[in-house]
Amino acid sequence: MKKAKKSAKNTAVNSKKIIVIHGPNLHLLGSRETDVYGKLTISEINAELKKRARDLRVSLEIVQSNHEGNIVDVIGKAPKRGIQGILINPAAYTHTSVAIRDAIAAVRIPAVEVHLSNIYKREPFRHVSMTASVCAGQVSGFGLNSYLLGLEALYHLVQ
Ligand code: DQA
Repeated sequence: MKKAKKSAKNTAVNSKKIIVIHGPNLHLLGSRETDVYGKLTISEINAELKKRARDLRVSLEIVQSNHEGNIVDVIGKAPKRGIQGILINPAAYTHTSVAIRDAIAAVRIPAVEVHLSNIYKREPFRHVSMTASVCAGQVSGFGLNSYLLGLEALYHLVQ
């Protein structure tokens, strides 16, 4: 009994904080281009992420924003908030946003970029990622598993 208490305490003390950032239009998952992005809603993806986070004993905060500046703000505030890892699907901003790229580079928190679809199999404008070069890595093309694999990779990076 004493031991169990102690390990529960250690989990809380050592628990790493990871933020998941979903970019623009991802709130529409479930109905948006289901042939490309699948039928899972963002809530279903978030529920699976929370389950995996519980298993890994990391604490997860999840944000979705359609606005580039909001995403820049969330990333910029992450160090002061004690966040140790960033799992990000920048969505369309992947291909355009120097501001999000610079924010990730500025905070020096390990980040992993994820995409539901394989961006390299799609239109040429999606083959370029502004953000990938400031991330530890990228997982693209595995639907929900892109997020889950990304979370596991991040978990190992922040240990
Ligand atoms: C996406 C791929 C992007 O090209 C697109 O703009 C998205 C979603 C993905 O998860 O596959 O909105 O990031």
